[in-house]
Amino acid sequence: SETVIRRDRFSGGPARGFMSSLQADERIFAADLAVDRAHTLMLVEQEILSESEAGAILGALETVEADGHSALPDGEDVHEAIESAVIGHIGPDGGKMHTARSRNDEVAACIRYQLRADIIDAIEATIALREGLIETARKHVETTMPGYTHLQPAQPITVAHYLLSYEATVARDTARLVDAYDRTNQSPLGGAAFAGTPFDIDRERTAELLGFDGVMRNSMDSSSARDFLAETTAALATHATTLSGLAEDLIIFANKGFVDLADAYSSTSSIMPQKKNPDTLELTRAVAGDATGALTGLLTTLKGLPRAYNRDLQRAHGHTFEAIDVVSEATLIAAGAVTTASWNDEILADAAGDGFSTATGIADLLAMAGLPFRTAHEVVADAAEAAESTDSKVTAANLDAAAQKVLGESLYEYVTAESIEDALDPHQSVVSRDSQGGPAPTAVTETLEKAVDELQIA
Ligand code: ARG
Repeated sequence: SETVIRRDRFSGGPARGFMSSLQADERIFAADLAVDRAHTLMLVEQEILSESEAGAILGALETVEADGHSALPDGEDVHEAIESAVIGHIGPDGGKMHTARSRNDEVAACIRYQLRADIIDAIEATIALREGLIETARKHVETTMPGYTHLQPAQPITVAHYLLSYEATVARDTARLVDAYDRTNQSPLGGAAFAGTPFDIDRERTAELLGFDGVMRNSMDSSSARDFLAETTAALATHATTLSGLAEDLIIFANKGFVDLADAYSSTSSIMPQKKNPDTLELTRAVAGDATGALTGLLTTLKGLPRAYNRDLQRAHGHTFEAIDVVSEATLIAAGAVTTASWNDEILADAAGDGFSTATGIADLLAMAGLPFRTAHEVVADAAEAAESTDSKVTAANLDAAAQKVLGESLYEYVTAESIEDALDPHQSVVSRDSQGGPAPTAVTETLEKAVDELQIA
């Protein structure tokens, strides 16, 4: 047939394999069948195809589906290969399937159709991680631990407060993926090559049949825009960056003996028999590299492309599919590692006071008693320095000596010895910081409730 002859002219030569996306298109094989069916149904409803023509095409598509992607004839891409297979089954009338469309709007529809399912998987993974963080936080509202800035002991917090800090970040990662889903789930079908079609097509109908929320309003934008890939991949790279921070912390916490990873999430050494290594977390940390690489690859591919379709686009969506697979997997692994890890309450409580981490609490106490905060800071800093020079812990006596020196007055003019002792205790220090969103068990319980409400879990 003429179709075969035209293709022969362009089908040979050393560039054939380079140009073909058939193998990678396996990812959109099922999507292409769905798009073909919706388009064929619309064409018959619009009386562009006869019922018998459409029936034959739909029948052939059944066979193509049953035979699977691997049985497709050779082709430049999955769209061409499926069309060739349909023609092979029912003859030249199979070519009527491609009436009033182009591979340009077709491939854009396929990518969007497949990607939205993948985005839902990614969203579900982030929700599983949030549930894991919440579930673990619930058990550790009272578990005091050190909080760090610059990786130096800073102020005591609780394990629940720490875990919920990541729940809050991942909640925004979920929201970014939901936004990306909304803009991905718009139908480009009917944009044709980029310049529309003279056929009386019904774009709303194909959008509805394929479950898209709406129809893209400009045919040129429909066939060429890939910002939905950029947005999705950016959301994935952002989330992978979140994951890398969480993984890094847990690796450090494991190193300090604060947390023990479950064996299922650990690995050992082939030579050192005593080793238990946090490999799953290290791999999770590394996935930020994959996702950022994918985003860079994608944006670099898209940058400066002229309107409308250019073949460069064939190399765009692979970046997003690679990122979404590995980021979703890493998210589920992180969820599993967090949920199954055990926190060592005693080691954590001991470490919570390290490095005079209650210093800010003492300064706050003095400021609450009426000293200017900067003066209070000076008193506490002086006591810290004195304790450091004798390699001992700061006591009420150190603080009083510092007050005499800095203020020329006793500390007890301002506060009681008992309140000082309380403020020096890491757990009491946590309990006192009950401002909204803070680490005090009362505040954390409210944060927990908000997180649970947002996820609508029990
Ligand atoms: N396989 C191509 C892609 O993934 C779609 C085909 C459009 N080809 C073309 N020469 N207009 O982008």
